[in-house]
Amino acid sequence: MSRYRIDRLASTFGARISGIDLSRPLENSLSAAIVNDLLEHRVLVIRDQTLSHEDHIRVSRLFGEPEVHIQDQYTVPGFPQIVTISNIHRNGAPIGLYDGDNEQEWHTDLSFRPAMSAVSLLYSVIAPEEGGETRFADTTAAYDDLSAELRARVDGCEAVHSMVHLFERQAADNPAKVPLTEVQRAQVPDVVHPLVREHPQTGRQSLLLGDMIIRGIVGLDQAESAGLLDQLHEHVTSEEYVYSHRWAAGDLVIWDNRATMHTASPCDHTRHQRLLYRTTVM
Ligand code: SIN
Repeated sequence: MSRYRIDRLASTFGARISGIDLSRPLENSLSAAIVNDLLEHRVLVIRDQTLSHEDHIRVSRLFGEPEVHIQDQYTVPGFPQIVTISNIHRNGAPIGLYDGDNEQEWHTDLSFRPAMSAVSLLYSVIAPEEGGETRFADTTAAYDDLSAELRARVDGCEAVHSMVHLFERQAADNPAKVPLTEVQRAQVPDVVHPLVREHPQTGRQSLLLGDMIIRGIVGLDQAESAGLLDQLHEHVTSEEYVYSHRWAAGDLVIWDNRATMHTASPCDHTRHQRLLYRTTVM
């Protein structure tokens, strides 16, 4: 514990932890420090790690049980809870999620599930020299800073999150997008979540958004819903609430899905490879 050090990254959220080796079993005090620091800072960056898939699962369990991912064609053999994120193609097909050169889709992991995800852990194995950053937005500070008028408008609103809608929109931009199978579609019916939610551990309010997965706000017509969502998105993704993580191999970034959202950034797959592994705890 003596070498454990935490330094803040950006003005409203995010911190870097140094002085730990996550490939080794963690003392209870260290585990508790990581869990508490995530609650306080919402995004944690831990560099220079060498993690096996077993280590990744073990560290994920500090926060709960990692979820088995529905797109099983991208999970790691023997580790259905670890999903591959990559722009590498083999035999003409992507080996992972977020394979497009122009990836950009702000979201909270697994918001298409009825129960919301808690924490994600993304570990980098191959990092591009250019592009492919993951950008995080502080949906908690952004909610705190909403005008009283906007708060009154969004408090109590609910939005429809739809994986099917997301895939339709992505296919319109990228005809090469691999569609959901019929079985996968049947597993992800649309769900309704509040637009403003309270964190179960910190009690803080945050905005739950997603620029492509939300079909609309319940009770508003399409134009009104789109107008309000665009206004909120513009606010939450303004520079003061965003931390952009430039990846190096060996980075582990842990984020609280109940207090942030994130997006991949464009990366040219003809010039740069990107390979990461993600777990998500519900
Ligand atoms: C994710 O959304 O979990 C992955 C983000 C990324 O590929 O940068």
